[in-house]
Amino acid sequence: MAGEAGELEVIVKRVRAETSEIRSFVLAPVNGGALPPFEAGAHIDVYPMPGLQRQYSLVNDPADCSCYVLGVKREENGRGGSNAMHSRLTEGATVRIGRPKHNFALRQNRGRSLLLAGGIGVTPLLSMAQALAARDADFQLHYFARSNQELAFQDLITKSAWGERVFYHFGLVPPLLNDALDEILSSPAEDDAIYLCGPNPFMDVVRGSAEEAGWPAGSIVLEHFSAEPPKLEPGKGEFVVRLAKRGIELLVPSDKPIIEVLREAGVEIKTSCEQGVCGTCLTQVIEGEPEHNDLYLTDEEHESGRLMTPCVSRAKSKFLVLDL
Ligand code: FES
Repeated sequence: MAGEAGELEVIVKRVRAETSEIRSFVLAPVNGGALPPFEAGAHIDVYPMPGLQRQYSLVNDPADCSCYVLGVKREENGRGGSNAMHSRLTEGATVRIGRPKHNFALRQNRGRSLLLAGGIGVTPLLSMAQALAARDADFQLHYFARSNQELAFQDLITKSAWGERVFYHFGLVPPLLNDALDEILSSPAEDDAIYLCGPNPFMDVVRGSAEEAGWPAGSIVLEHFSAEPPKLEPGKGEFVVRLAKRGIELLVPSDKPIIEVLREAGVEIKTSCEQGVCGTCLTQVIEGEPEHNDLYLTDEEHESGRLMTPCVSRAKSKFLVLDL
């Protein structure tokens, strides 16, 4: 059943402990049938409880829209989303979700595709592996984890026809990580591509190694979990935001993000990740210089200063005029 903004109510068909911290969830339409189609690498918004919205990648084969499969790692010190997913999404429960979004997609590259996963970052790459196998593409999935106790979706991998293309590496930090990467990333060829998902420090090391091995920057496609939160220093960095369409001015103090100030003033803008990675809150800048803290916009877009993500970004100038 579709909700007001194209959201859907789905039923939790199956919950499974993949590891001591990771659970997989199979979500299916409440009344049978199929869910909206998606491409490998897609994610959905999930609303595990009122007022809480989180994004999770789809794990399953895009050819199968009878369900969506998610993998969620419980983060004890997280913002509460994974705990709510683990405690509330029990078999038979219903939950509201959004339609698939595609910020991380396979290209039509004709060379090798190297899928590099750090921990729970394996989830979108599993969907990609299934899509690449279906098109008979040349690919490898390299799955990095702290230990074999932390490997999720082993059932899916071992029962697949592409299991021999999966390589396991234990250790998510240098020097073990660098040694493995030196071997995997040696000799890039034309039209090869790297698809990368995992914690930010893992991705930084992979990108550094790829650069050293001679991979062109454009050959790396990546998905971030979250941007580094901006350092908010009390008493430093306050600025004024003018909302051009509404003709109002708001003071953004040094310890609050712009979206919080907007909400307090009764101005709701659409958000999703609130972590600077999804682009949902993208807003046009009419005047002033944004301080970009997101991982969504490209370097060129950052430089142009015409768009910003008010969930994490701030202002370098004392005054910012937004198209709101
Ligand atoms: S809400 Fe996702 S980038 Fe702002």
